[in-house]
Amino acid sequence: MKYFFHSELLDILASNEKQTNTIKDNTLLVSVQHLLETTGSLFETLIAFGFKPHDIFVTGKLYSNNKTVVAKLKDLKINVVESSDSNEVGDYYNLLRLDCEKVWALVLEKLQDGKDVQIIVLDDGGMLLRTIPNNIIARYKIIGVEQTTSGVVLNRSSRVPIISVAECALKKIIEPSFISQAVLLKARQLLFNYRPDNIGVIGFGNIGRALVKDLCSQYTVHIYDIDIEKYKELPQSVIISSSADELFKNCDMIFGATGTDVSSVTWINNLNSNKILVSVSSGDKEFLSLLRLHRKRVASVTDTIVLNFDSQFNISILQGGMPINFDKGTHSVLPEFIQITRGLLLAGVFQALEIIEKAQNQNALIMLDPDRQVFVIKNWLNFVNISKFAFPFQLKEMLNPDFIKTHSGGIKIKSNNFLSFLLSIFL
Ligand SMILES: NC(=O)c1ccc[n+]([C@@H]2O[C@H](COP(=O)([O-])OP(=O)(O)OC[C@H]3O[C@@H](n4cnc5c(N)ncnc54)[C@H](O)[C@@H]3O)[C@@H](O)[C@H]2O)c1
Repeated sequence: MKYFFHSELLDILASNEKQTNTIKDNTLLVSVQHLLETTGSLFETLIAFGFKPHDIFVTGKLYSNNKTVVAKLKDLKINVVESSDSNEVGDYYNLLRLDCEKVWALVLEKLQDGKDVQIIVLDDGGMLLRTIPNNIIARYKIIGVEQTTSGVVLNRSSRVPIISVAECALKKIIEPSFISQAVLLKARQLLFNYRPDNIGVIGFGNIGRALVKDLCSQYTVHIYDIDIEKYKELPQSVIISSSADELFKNCDMIFGATGTDVSSVTWINNLNSNKILVSVSSGDKEFLSLLRLHRKRVASVTDTIVLNFDSQFNISILQGGMPINFDKGTHSVLPEFIQITRGLLLAGVFQALEIIEKAQNQNALIMLDPDRQVFVIKNWLNFVNISKFAFPFQLKEMLNPDFIKTHSGGIKIKSNNFLSFLLSIFL
């Protein structure tokens, strides 16, 4: 009986891995994740594989944590640090840093028993990797697994080796379609509620492009991207703005899909109608400059902020500038689909167990093992119907380890898998 969503994919990956890989006693898993139902499935699978719940340390993200999931993780006896909140907006990343430091303080307490431990850091956004105390790095074997590009960028000159799930071919090729679909569902609800005349989308990458494609047949859509190369294959009706300022002037609902602060305090001088700002990226990044103008205390940093100036119009920043597809529900994307992301993370943790010793003197970004990636997608395809999704590459290419290797970032470290497999037969 499973406690969390039963992911057959994760079960298959774990039972396959058990044939060649083992977990040493005293292996700690230290993690930041969105605490959603399928993250619970991931931890449950790791426990079934051999991680001890009291050796797992987790914190979540304030804007996505699901209360029931947090309670269930605690029931499993996992060490959970609850996400901090604040009465002042515009400070989300400091709150996350604080939570990561609390996690490391708990780990340090545990390390006082003097045992020889090894540590796997499973991160989402790079803050946990960034805040590893130096004395832990100096004394223990440690390796990271990072799932976001921003986390990889934050740890470019990392002090520990990191397996880059963020840059693996499958995550880059497959995940954006599902995220975009989840974002679209929420965006359509908002459009129905607010009925704006002109919509703006800043950032014409994976998520922004999907939004624009879906909305442009029904609405007037303005776009702006810092990179004009992105304007290829634009739907005809779309209006290109020459700057974010121009887009702001011409739109009443603006989606931020860049992963950076695109807002400017000068926008308040151009207030010609009520404006609704919606982030579809991560944290409170997209409209930070404007958020920081809000001086009033809030009940939570995830509250919608309304900025009033000496004007008849105001600016609303929905959910405190946090991405709208996270609403603290159990799922942000249908579990069958997002299993692939959890599967890739699980593959990253298994690879970390396997290469932790070998990787110790290489503080590099390591490629997520192409063979493991192929195993993940082959099995995932048995559980999903992907006919509604369009991916930039053919499926048969994604089943080819050479293709996966070419499209994945990070260096390749040869594993001892085969050797340990032989040893397991003869010993
Ligand atoms: N909401 C979610 O569930 C979710 C899930 C995964 C990732 N994300 C985050 O959403 C963001 C967008 O994801 P993506 O896959 O579309 O990324 P992407 O890199 O494909 O697209 C980002 C686009 O923004 C543009 N851009 C960057 N800075 C800009 C600026 N100052 N002004 C205008 N344009 C700018 C880039 O040129 C690029 O085209 C990322 O930060 C990503 O981490 C969100």
